[in-house]
Amino acid sequence: MNSDNKIIEIEGLEKSYGSGRNAIQVLRGIDLDITKGEAVSITGPSGTGKSTLLNMMGCLDNFDKGSLKISGKDISFLSVDELSSFRNRHVGFIFQLHNLLPEFTAIENVMIPLLIRRTPSKTAREMSMELLKKFNMEDRATHKPGEMSGGECQRVAVARAIVGEPDLILADEPTGSLDSKNSMILLEILLDLCREKGSTIVIVTHDMKIAGMTQRMIPMLDGLIVGSDDL
Ligand SMILES: Nc1ncnc2c1ncn2[C@@H]1O[C@H](COP(=O)(O)OP(=O)(O)O)[C@@H](O)[C@H]1O
Ligand SMILES: [Mg+2]
Repeated sequence: MNSDNKIIEIEGLEKSYGSGRNAIQVLRGIDLDITKGEAVSITGPSGTGKSTLLNMMGCLDNFDKGSLKISGKDISFLSVDELSSFRNRHVGFIFQLHNLLPEFTAIENVMIPLLIRRTPSKTAREMSMELLKKFNMEDRATHKPGEMSGGECQRVAVARAIVGEPDLILADEPTGSLDSKNSMILLEILLDLCREKGSTIVIVTHDMKIAGMTQRMIPMLDGLIVGSDDL
């Protein structure tokens, strides 16, 4: 099959943690294709391997068996340097915990991915401010994470993940610390990126309302995908 339009192709993916009698198999043979520009959600009970699968898509961890291609490239053959450059250019990761750098202000945190790819500082600052405004966070731009609420930190972390308009946005329970109004703002911003820039979005969520806003729900149970629901 022609895979030109696939951003993610996963076949028979398996992953265990621990070894010997303590080993637990977290992913037990995942097959999943995601098309460029799609917005999908991964749902399922806690402990079923959703975060583990998302980490694999973000090339943040290795796997035991199977194959993972991103934009047609088999990532098992990339070097560590190639992987990190690939992540900086193409992947925006929104973690379950916000992972902001505590010594930097909100706007500096957002600017980091742009500075890494050598965007001039003035442009990086303008682009970051524009995004903070969309999240109603402009008056927090010079605050450090310790001076902001959990929900505010999460919005900054989301801004940081998407400021470079990555091809692939991976979001792990991104609305966990947001109220329903800010959850909707976040979803609209992500879906706009998908519509306007052709970014692909993969959202792990417990929230069926959020999942229902994506084009496809991928339900997981005990390390397997249990059938997907085209909406
Ligand atoms: N680094 C790790 N070391 C050992 N076990 C882990 C690790 N990460 C996750 N697990 C285990 O893998 C299972 C799936 O975890 P996870 O992918 O975080 O599930 P979910 O995101 O669906 O809640 C859980 O039983 C969890 O305890
Ligand atoms: Mg999780």
